Amino acid sequence: MKNFIKGLPKVELHLHIEGTLEPELMFELAQRNKVAIPYSSPQAVRDAYQFHNLQSFLDIYYQGANVLITEQDFFDLTWAYLLRCKADNVIHTEIFFDPQTHTERGIAFKTVIDGITRALEQARTQLDISSQVIMCFLRHLDEDAAFETLAQAMPYRDRIVAVGLDSSELGHPPEKFARVFQAAKKAGFLTVAHAGEEGPAQNILDAIDLLGVSRIDHGVRCVENAELVKQLAESRMPLTVCPLSNTKLKVFEHMGQHNIVDLLETGLCVTINSDDPAYFGGYMTDNFVAVADAHQLTQQQIAQFSLNAIEASFIEQAQKVTMS
Ligand code: ADE
Ligand code: ZN
Repeated sequence: MKNFIKGLPKVELHLHIEGTLEPELMFELAQRNKVAIPYSSPQAVRDAYQFHNLQSFLDIYYQGANVLITEQDFFDLTWAYLLRCKADNVIHTEIFFDPQTHTERGIAFKTVIDGITRALEQARTQLDISSQVIMCFLRHLDEDAAFETLAQAMPYRDRIVAVGLDSSELGHPPEKFARVFQAAKKAGFLTVAHAGEEGPAQNILDAIDLLGVSRIDHGVRCVENAELVKQLAESRMPLTVCPLSNTKLKVFEHMGQHNIVDLLETGLCVTINSDDPAYFGGYMTDNFVAVADAHQLTQQQIAQFSLNAIEASFIEQAQKVTMS
């Protein structure tokens, strides 16, 4: 089954580029940029990755991003991820980046986006991997900061397909960003949002109604509202689910308890993604294998996750037809 999964063409729709920072690269960049990090070795970094909820992860994750300073750093980070994509037969990826994690430290928006998109362009020609970029607002910061970030993105409008919402879900519901999402839509961006990861099913409904999202990131807590599950199935609203993330962050105690297969069988457009693979122990193939092993998936079920991801992607309709 592992060989079938590895060879299956895959599309990734939920991936934070900052979450692909492997401990070895973290060390290399810390040295290169003379940034102090509180670890003695890459193994010590890995040992520190014991999380009990989303916040305990985010605290370590934002700290890790401090080593990213130059355009070349963002290129190197993104290129390393794209090589993993190639090894896993990921043929298209839609990556998130969190500009505020960097602009708050005095790194220019331009430095971040130039490094990321230079790697994505190189992957298009050298690795035959297509891509899109989604800019996320950090929901623990305020609305004014999100508006400021949206203004900074405007000169790069042609490089960013959508805006998203990530970071601490509890205490920061979708309504906090209704106006900035409305402005983003008016400027031509598609929208997505993390909802129903740690927060209640109501956040999923509000992301759809107040933020006008085209996809829900995570969304696994939809099962707490039967009416919502029916609506998601009927509308084929995609859920970008991240199985290894969910078990690492204790959304589910173990993979056998994960609801992704139930959701698939109920007819929802669920997809498999890696979220922050350097922190959660696996890239795309690892996530597929973890679900397939715990739930004894058939090849048809596994392939359906890939077909769903093509359907849910922001690629041109014409390209979708040739992919599937
Ligand atoms: N930022 C990076 N990974 C995240 C996740 N799983 N949930 C919310 N914000 C995130
Ligand atoms: Zn995420």
